[in-house]
This record gives sequence, structure tokens and C-alpha cells, in this order.
Amino acid sequence: MDKTMYLAKIETAMAQYYLEAGISKRLEEAITYSFQAGGKRIRPRLFLETVQAFGVALRDSHYQVAASLEMVHTGSLIHDDLPAMDNDDYRRGRLTNHKQFDEATAILAGDSLFLDPFGLLARTDFSPAIQIQLVKELSDASGTLGMVAGQMLDMSSEGQEISLEQLQVIHANKTGCLLTFPFVAAGLVAEVSDPICDALRQLGQLVGLAFQVRDDILDLTADFEALGKTPQKDLVAQKSTYPALLGLSESRLFLEETLDKALTVIHQIGDQVPFQSQSLKSIIEGLRLDD
Ligand code: IPE
Ligand code: IPE
Ligand code: MG
Ligand code: MG
Ligand code: MG
Repeated sequence: MDKTMYLAKIETAMAQYYLEAGISKRLEEAITYSFQAGGKRIRPRLFLETVQAFGVALRDSHYQVAASLEMVHTGSLIHDDLPAMDNDDYRRGRLTNHKQFDEATAILAGDSLFLDPFGLLARTDFSPAIQIQLVKELSDASGTLGMVAGQMLDMSSEGQEISLEQLQVIHANKTGCLLTFPFVAAGLVAEVSDPICDALRQLGQLVGLAFQVRDDILDLTADFEALGKTPQKDLVAQKSTYPALLGLSESRLFLEETLDKALTVIHQIGDQVPFQSQSLKSIIEGLRLDD
């Protein structure tokens, strides 16, 4: 399917969920402001491409899972940008949520975007057993077993000297978990075997780590136009990042090697089951950076 078409379907799945709302127009406006600001939509794309790679035809419920994931991600960005966290003024090329609205609204919009996805998952037409697994995996990836815990470690590590192992734990949780969910969720809805599910989880962890290392590199090397957010913020905040610990060229090498490992896992999956991974591979290849 044409990429813009399926991105539109993700937005429709989210918008339809909010058709049932109507209690606070301001809250819905703040949610929609950040959700519809664009963004690369890499997490939902990875999910939809992995589902299709297993030969499953996409239907509305798949777009609802894709939207659920992008909602949690968008909420994480709104909170990440708050003054008490990374204190950013721009996101996705426009003012951050708290700048456009106010802090209380941004906090509440984030709260909604963390909770609503579970209601959306419960509205899919997957079997109850699959729905429960999806809820478990998304909760684990988002909360105290995943992203939120990673964000806590990230904040505590500002201005600190930490080891590469500790940094990897931060990245695996703050970013890796929400990039692992699309692969695991695709395995669940395609009803693959446990060994394939394990391989998908490993693939997601590699892509997630690569993604945050890439983000760390781009913070140093890209401009506002390319990023849609203020560059060089990590330096100012004395964040623990791969370039801060390893230097820029080592970080680039690490990114390349991690992406290579991810592609190897894709091939290993393809050796065991039918896996039409061309589109998936091109998303992952697209994460490479020219030096
Ligand atoms: C930004 O994520 C935060 C990180 C986890 C690095 P993205 O780079 O996917 O942001 P959008 O969704 O495209 O705006
Ligand atoms: C964010 O990491 C990870 C999240 C859970 C949102 P960053 O703080 O590096 O993300 P950006 O650079 O602000 O997008
Ligand atoms: Mg941050
Ligand atoms: Mg940030
Ligand atoms: Mg960053």
C-alpha cells in the first residue's frame, strides 16, 4: 500500500477513538495538536510492515494497534519536552505542547495519550487472548518496566559520568522498548511461533538501540530544519549520550554495526518462515547516516 495512504489510516484510527470523547475540547485539541504534527511514524510503520511481511493483510484493527503505539510515543514526547524534563520549545517543527497550550494542559494531554491506547487496543477485533498480550506488551514497553523508567534514568544521569553499560540500559528502556513493541506486536497478531517471537524481540531491541544512538548523533550534527527540534540540546543539558561517551565517529560505527546486526536477524527469520521483508529492510536501511 502507498505510504501516505497507510499513514492516513493510522490518523483515522486515532481520530475515530476521540469521536467518542467530547468532555473537554481543550484536552482533545492539545492531543490532536501533537499527534497530527507529523513525525516520522517509524514505530507504526515498523509494525504494519512486519505484519505484512508475514503475509497478513492489513485491516482496521492493525491500524488501531499502530495508532495505540504512536499515541504512547507522542505522549512520551510531550512529557519529555516539559520544563521539568528536557525543557524544549520545538517539536516536530512546531511549538512544543506546553508552549502552544500551557504546562497543565501538556501534562494532561500526555496522561491521556498514555491511557487511551489501552482502550483502543480493547476495541480491536483480535481474540481476547491476543488483546491481553497486546495490552501486556504495550504496558511493559511504556511504564515502569520500560520507557518511563528509562526516562527516570536519563534524567538522573544528567551531568553524571556513567558507564557504556549503564547508558545502554537507559537507551534500551527510554527508547528501545517502544521500538521493540512493533515487532513483538506484529508477531502476536500474525500468531507466529515462540522462537520467531524471540527473534522479533531481539530485532526490536537492536533497532531501538540504533534509533537512540542515531538521535544522539543527529542532536550534534543536524540542524533545526532537519530535526524539527532545537539541535545540540544534549550538550547543554549534559546528557549521557553515545557521542558523549564514545565520540562521534565511534558512535557512527556503533550505529552501523547495530543496524547490520538487525538486518542479520531479519535474514535469520526469513530462513525459518516465509518473511517478505523488503519494505521492512528499507525502513531499517533508511536509519543509516552518511558521514
Ligand atoms: C524522538 O522520536 C524521541 C526518541 C525516542 C529519539 P522520533 O525521532 O521517532 O520522533 P518523531 O515521532 O519522528 O517526532
Ligand atoms: C527521548 O529521548 C526518549 C523519549 C522517551 C521521549 P530524547 O530526549 O533524546 O528525545 P528528543 O531528542 O527530545 O526527541
Ligand atoms: Mg529526553
Ligand atoms: Mg528530549
Ligand atoms: Mg534526543
